Amino acid sequence: MTLEGEIALVTGGSRGIGRAAAIALAKEGAEVIINYVSNEEKAKETCNEIAANGGKSSAVKFDVANTEETQAAITAILKDKKKISILVNNAGITRDGLMMRYSIDDWDQVLNTNLRGAFAVSQSVIRSMMKERKGSIIHMGSIVGLTGNAGQAAYCAAKAGIIGLTKSMAKELASRNIRVNAIAPGFIETDMTHKLNDEQKKAISDLIPLKRIGSADEIAQAVVFLACQNSSYITGQTIVVDGGMGM
Ligand SMILES: NC(=O)c1ccc[n+]([C@@H]2O[C@H](COP(=O)([O-])OP(=O)(O)OC[C@H]3O[C@@H](n4cnc5c(N)ncnc54)[C@H](OP(=O)(O)O)[C@@H]3O)[C@@H](O)[C@H]2O)c1
Repeated sequence: MTLEGEIALVTGGSRGIGRAAAIALAKEGAEVIINYVSNEEKAKETCNEIAANGGKSSAVKFDVANTEETQAAITAILKDKKKISILVNNAGITRDGLMMRYSIDDWDQVLNTNLRGAFAVSQSVIRSMMKERKGSIIHMGSIVGLTGNAGQAAYCAAKAGIIGLTKSMAKELASRNIRVNAIAPGFIETDMTHKLNDEQKKAISDLIPLKRIGSADEIAQAVVFLACQNSSYITGQTIVVDGGMGM
C-alpha cells in the first residue's frame, strides 16, 4: 500500500466521485476524513464500506461555501489528527441555465461552493502541510472549465478558476514540498449527471471518442496517482480524464 500513515481529507466524500476517491485512498492505506454537507447517511455508508475493506475513516459535516464553518471544522480535525497530508477538494454543485435568465444567487452559490470553497479549505489545511513539509492537494475541476459549455457559465467559470488556483498554489507551495494538481473529469455517472435520460446520455456518449460515460472509480484512480509518490514530480497540472471528450 502506497499511502500508509497518510491522513486524507476528501470534501464531498459522501457520494459520487468523492466517495470513490475516499474508498480508493483508504484501500491504499490512508486514513480518510469524509466531508459532507447534508447527507449524513451516505457519508456513513462510505465510512462503512471503507471499514468493510479494512480501512479507517470518519465523517465530518461542514459547508465548504461557509468559510467560518469550514475553518472551525478543519481546526478541529487538525487538533484531533495532528496533520492532513492529502486534500481532495471535490465538493461541487451545478446550477445550470442560460445566462439571459440566470440568477445572481445561483452564480454566488456555484462560485462559493466550487471555487471559494476550494480556496477556503486549502487555506485552512496548508499551514499543517507547510509544517510537515509535505502534502498533495488535488482539486476537482471539469473538462468544461477548459472547453466552456452553453448553459453552464457559472460552473465553467468556477472550474476554469480552479485551474488558475491550482497553478498559483503550486507555485506558492512547491518550496515546501506541497504539490497541487487538478483533475478535469469529463462526463461521469453520478447523482450530478443521473437526471439526464437515456436518450441524452446516448447523445453525449456518441460525442465521446471512447463512446461511453466514465465511472467515478476511473476518476478515483487519478486521485490516488496524484496523491501518492508515483506522481512526485508533477505539480501545477490539470489531468484530463474524459474519454477524449475535450480533444
Ligand atoms: N459527475 C460529473 O460528470 C463531473 C464532471 C466533471 C467534474 N465533476 C466534479 O466532480 C466533483 C464531484 O461531483 P459528483 O458528480 O461526484 O457530484 P455529486 O454526486 O452530486 O456529489 C456531490 C458531493 O459534494 C458534496 N457537497 C455539495 N455541496 C457541498 C458543500 N457546500 N459543502 C460540502 N460538501 C458539499 C455532497 O455532499 P452531500 O452528500 O452531503 O450532499 C456530495 O458528497 C464536483 O466538484 C463536480 O463539479 C463532476
